[in-house]
Amino acid sequence: MKNYKELLNENRAWAEESFAKIDKKMSALTLRSRDKLADGLKADGTHKSVPPECWTSGFWGGLNAMLYNHTKNEEYLKTAQRSEELLDPALISFEKLYHDVGFMWHILSGALYRLTGNEQSKDRNMHAAASLFSRFVMYKDAPGGFIRAWNAPWQGSEVDNWTIIDCLMNLPILYWATEITGDDRWTRLAMAHADMALKDHLRPDGSVVHIAEHNRDTGELVTTHRGQGYAVGSCWSRGQAWGLYGFTLSYIHTGEERYLNAAKQIANYFIANCCDDWLPRVDFRSPSQPVMYDSTAGACAACGLIELAKRLPEHEGGMYMHAALKMLQALEANFIDYNPDTDAMLTHGTVLYPHSEAQNSVVHISIIYAEYFYTEAILKILGEEFLPW
Ligand code: GLY
Repeated sequence: MKNYKELLNENRAWAEESFAKIDKKMSALTLRSRDKLADGLKADGTHKSVPPECWTSGFWGGLNAMLYNHTKNEEYLKTAQRSEELLDPALISFEKLYHDVGFMWHILSGALYRLTGNEQSKDRNMHAAASLFSRFVMYKDAPGGFIRAWNAPWQGSEVDNWTIIDCLMNLPILYWATEITGDDRWTRLAMAHADMALKDHLRPDGSVVHIAEHNRDTGELVTTHRGQGYAVGSCWSRGQAWGLYGFTLSYIHTGEERYLNAAKQIANYFIANCCDDWLPRVDFRSPSQPVMYDSTAGACAACGLIELAKRLPEHEGGMYMHAALKMLQALEANFIDYNPDTDAMLTHGTVLYPHSEAQNSVVHISIIYAEYFYTEAILKILGEEFLPW
């Protein structure tokens, strides 16, 4: 196995070509979709706009902020700033806020503050961080606690004591709040949640649980729920990617080895379960037919794998970089549309498969966060140091 630096050097020209095509497409799209919170497509093939309170509402602006940082094209900045304004109604409507404020604001307002120094962006992100902080449930008879998911009742279920693996991706807004305020309580709370996830979401074999239900007095795990995976006890690939990148981010922000080891365990399981074609299936423990892909899982996992590789000894990092490159190149070969005249860039994202009674399956569609993470991963291969999370 080549070491990760050799792999980066060998694949740089490919990443430069890919980025040139992304930039060409996005510089057209940023003008067309400026007034939308773009995610998915309407029947006519143009971008839909999601409501500001949707957990995916920050990705379009965040993608533009990331592109602005790398290219300094002011049109991207204008679109990212427009997205911030479009998200404001969600930030002031307290009842519509839930655990995903990191996804929504940190990669948008948090990124814009760091890139432009705009104080209003900082304030938006601090308000979002404070609302996440307020969701913490402290165990009564045991140390620690968790950030509760959703607002009860959610899709007919009482969810007061539920956590989800996805929420690891929301913790960076809390680590950032410590950097801004100099107060470590934000980080301590984020670490309490990450430690809960080590205990209750990470299985011994390196796969992860989507939804865990806790006893809020004792801190014991009561049960797990299916959430988005194929079945209770299966392994939803996007959840696996959230865990992989999420624990890597907690390691980056805290330096705690236990998070690095968790990320490696999850990555090892992810890589071991990739098929020969390196295209991510929706669930790693589901029937092989019909074949159901999820491009979001591959793109997000690739970001985690690259960051992981960079933080390991060169030779150990090679395996993770190799897997990231294989996944990105498979996504590009099979699911990419770089045509600047169309609105979707990456196809074959899956929101949910199979469906439950409360939810409909949504499979093989264009999803904005697949495009976000794919672009983030290509920029990482080009050596971009800005980490939006
Ligand atoms: N965070 C929601 C999802 O991954 O579908």
